Amino acid sequence: MRAVLIHRDTTGTTLAVGEAPEPALAPGSVRIAVRAGSVNYVDQFVPEGGYGTPPADGTAWVAGLDAAGEVLEVGAGVTDVRVGDRVMTMTAGGLAEQVVVDARCLVPVPDGWSDEDAAAAVVGLLTECDALTAAGAFAPGDQVLVTGATSGMGMQGVQLARSLGAARVIALARSDRADDVLRGLGADLVLHSTGSGFADDVLAATGGNGVDLTVDHVGGAYFPDIVAATAVRGRIVNVGRVAGTEVTADLEAFSLKRLTLRGVTFRTRSADELAAMYAGVRALDLTDLRPTIDRVVPWEETQEAQRLLATGSVVGKVVIRVGA
Ligand SMILES: NC(=O)c1ccc[n+]([C@@H]2O[C@H](COP(=O)([O-])OP(=O)(O)OC[C@H]3O[C@@H](n4cnc5c(N)ncnc54)[C@H](OP(=O)(O)O)[C@@H]3O)[C@@H](O)[C@H]2O)c1
Repeated sequence: MRAVLIHRDTTGTTLAVGEAPEPALAPGSVRIAVRAGSVNYVDQFVPEGGYGTPPADGTAWVAGLDAAGEVLEVGAGVTDVRVGDRVMTMTAGGLAEQVVVDARCLVPVPDGWSDEDAAAAVVGLLTECDALTAAGAFAPGDQVLVTGATSGMGMQGVQLARSLGAARVIALARSDRADDVLRGLGADLVLHSTGSGFADDVLAATGGNGVDLTVDHVGGAYFPDIVAATAVRGRIVNVGRVAGTEVTADLEAFSLKRLTLRGVTFRTRSADELAAMYAGVRALDLTDLRPTIDRVVPWEETQEAQRLLATGSVVGKVVIRVGA
């Protein structure tokens, strides 16, 4: 089959469409004919082994983190997925003509959504649904702060918080470049900060109390204000650390507020835990959760798409059309 391959040598990393072995179907899994994938923040760490393990012998391996398409074949023991079903999934090596994944790790593509919509949505739905509901104990009526709101994840976090019934959604971004889009996705208020000074505005918007739940995609210098902007008995869920992995925290403020801090990642989850995340997304009403797409490009342009994402100039997801 053909796939987008990551080639690494002493001169650097290149991505190009090439030949890769077809994955074998195992019991409990399904084979998907992939039509679309997308690029994600983590792609930039893959070539150096930051996510996944590159082959020790230096051979090329398949790029991608997500995939949407049609089920081609089901493995032994799979009863609730049928050939021809349209599905989306998160899987390393998604930018290939075929992927094989655990049959529990699928979300049906909603009626009216294209393969591109599905590819753009799946990682964000899994991440933000888990962060808001499982880790963040979201309840309708909560006031929610989403940091890094212009990221692919952040946009879907804003959208999902609104859809789940948040009383107020506050989006925090570095600039005003996507304010209109964020408001369209459900943000009541968009604040701007490059690291600090936003807590007072959050407190002012929440009657002095702060938000019940912060879904944080940035970390770093933002953390002290996040603590200050979160209410007594509030929850902070750290999803991403684009502004830095190390933070300082006033533990006195933290304890006085009796805050909960949770971290989340896919990387340390068992197969059963991953399957539970998919079940959470399948239980959502996705009607109002169609993702924001900046553009769709052919898979020959994956490397440029990754570079483009890293420039921070896109608003929404960059989708990769897989195959001819
Ligand atoms: N925990 C999980 O399970 C999980 C799952 C998926 C993703 N993530 C994480 O979530 C984060 C977002 O991922 P994504 O794929 O949605 O990212 P993305 O679409 O590439 O967006 C990243 C955004 O971060 C902002 N940014 C970059 N550097 C920044 C800085 N120093 N300070 C503040 N903002 C900065 C930029 O927005 P502006 O230029 O507009 O400021 C950029 O648009 C990443 O950290 C990723 O690793 C975690």
